[in-house]
Amino acid sequence: MGTMLSLQKVTKIYPGAGHVKAVDELTFDLEEGEICTLVGPSGCGKTTAMKMINRLISITSGKIIIDGKDISRLNTIELRRSIGYVIQNIGLFPNMTIGENIAIIPKLLKWDRAKIDEKVQRLLEIVNLGPDEYKDRYPNELSGGQQQRIGVARGMAGDPPIMLMDEPFGAIDPINREHLQNEFLKIQEKVKKTIVFVTHDIDEAIKMGDKICLLKDGHLVQFASPEEMLTHPKNDFVADFAGGDRTLKRLNLFTVKRAMKDNPPIINQDETIETARNLFSEISIRYLIAVNSEGRLTGMIDNQDIPDKASLVKDAVAPTNAWLTAQSNLKDGLSEIFTHDYGFLIVVDDAKKVLGWLHTEDIKETLKG
Ligand SMILES: Nc1ncnc2c1ncn2[C@@H]1O[C@H](COP(=O)(O)OP(=O)(O)OP(=O)(O)O)[C@@H](O)[C@H]1O
Ligand SMILES: [Mg+2]
Repeated sequence: MGTMLSLQKVTKIYPGAGHVKAVDELTFDLEEGEICTLVGPSGCGKTTAMKMINRLISITSGKIIIDGKDISRLNTIELRRSIGYVIQNIGLFPNMTIGENIAIIPKLLKWDRAKIDEKVQRLLEIVNLGPDEYKDRYPNELSGGQQQRIGVARGMAGDPPIMLMDEPFGAIDPINREHLQNEFLKIQEKVKKTIVFVTHDIDEAIKMGDKICLLKDGHLVQFASPEEMLTHPKNDFVADFAGGDRTLKRLNLFTVKRAMKDNPPIINQDETIETARNLFSEISIRYLIAVNSEGRLTGMIDNQDIPDKASLVKDAVAPTNAWLTAQSNLKDGLSEIFTHDYGFLIVVDDAKKVLGWLHTEDIKETLKG
């Protein structure tokens, strides 16, 4: 993996705007497969910086290199076909159906019909808009947020190595937004595109970015990984932008798996209550995690609430919601710990096999680094 995208002192002065630099000597490199989130206050130059990458806006001075090639020497049409673009105000073609909108680039790339249909189908599923229901509608028959999701699908359609996304999830409600972010990150794990992602939401920048590029008045304030920016904000502007809850925001960056301990107090539910009682006194805790013979979570036993008639562990097990999968983030982990009374959270894999347990202390340790 080498540098895929390199901005070198990229500057934009709009004609007629005096000598105000909308983007001022912006320099950063992105490795192949990285997502860089461009953040900063409204008017700081995010869209301008992004549009210079596919030459929708001309560069005043400086250079942009993609995969070793100076883009000023490339044919603009080919350049734009090789870069997926999701624009800030959606920009669907009103006279084309949703399916046709998504298929624009694949058609230009002369993919065969079956491959295009399959791609359209798959992308509509990803953005949670049932293909049968939406494919043949026109953009004005969709809500704003739905149109924006189609914009995202369209940007991804040609399988471009580089994607530029300008506030792609901006108009989408929190639930769909989170779904899209997660789906997008899942796909990205497989396809490893190089992505410049504009957002004004610092939480989104932290979640989506391998790197964050924070701009102010056209110039770069800090370019760093989310963890670096949150632990070592370069100045007060960055610290303010990242927010007073910087430490809590770092919880999003770690998985539960990273912080958990892998020695949870488990007991097979087919064991006798006697065995459970012995275990309780041996490790002096109040709760045991009950599992079946495959190690999957079946519930919790409370030492202070074992029915008199119980002879097997399973007679004393109460179902529990105090679990998360190992890939969940620590913010959700912490929230779950506080939601339940056990004082810890059970960590499971996708098959609900118990992998570990998590306490607030473990979280504290992880944040210490
Ligand atoms: N065509 C133009 N002519 C003159 N000035 C422009 C033009 N387009 C943008 N600007 C100015 O350049 C600066 C950067 O604008 P840009 O659209 O890049 O900001 P942004 O960071 O994307 O903001 P937002 O978060 O509001 O989308 C702003 O001050 C804007 O007013
Ligand atoms: Mg913008």
